[in-house]
Amino acid sequence: MAHLNWTPDLETGIREIDGQHRRIVDYINQLYDARDHHDREAVGAVIDEMVDYTLSHFAFEESLMTDAGYMFAGPHKKIHELFTRKVGEYRMRFEAGEDVASDLHAMLSRWLFNHIRNDDRSYTDSVKVYLKNVGHGDTDMKAQIKEELIRELHLKKKRGFFARLFGGEE
Ligand SMILES: [Fe+2]
Ligand SMILES: [Fe+2]
Repeated sequence: MAHLNWTPDLETGIREIDGQHRRIVDYINQLYDARDHHDREAVGAVIDEMVDYTLSHFAFEESLMTDAGYMFAGPHKKIHELFTRKVGEYRMRFEAGEDVASDLHAMLSRWLFNHIRNDDRSYTDSVKVYLKNVGHGDTDMKAQIKEELIRELHLKKKRGFFARLFGGEE
């Protein structure tokens, strides 16, 4: 498998979400390169950065879905949690000295595109309607939502790596 290519069918039409998805694709491609160069240190670094960024993306997406009143926000969150756990297991195997880069890369490539095309696609209508209404309302509310999201991301960042990875028992 080579580099992942972004295709138009991956666009949700929600600017922030599409930007975040593209960045996750970039991380997966960076993982490919690090593996290709047999650079174990780079593999570890990119896994950490990718996990960190993906968790922020999930938090952003979940807040948006919940605020929009999307019916399946709960199940969607569960899917994110299962994925996070799975990646955490790869991370631990890597820590234990295993060469997981190829397997992890294959899993991520499959999972992400499938998740964007199916699960993420399902919330787009609700979120778009919500964003449109917010947009038509006062801009203060939009700013307030953004502020809340940023605050939430900062809170999540303060917690430990593994705690975040495993749902946070801190
Ligand atoms: Fe998602
Ligand atoms: Fe997503």
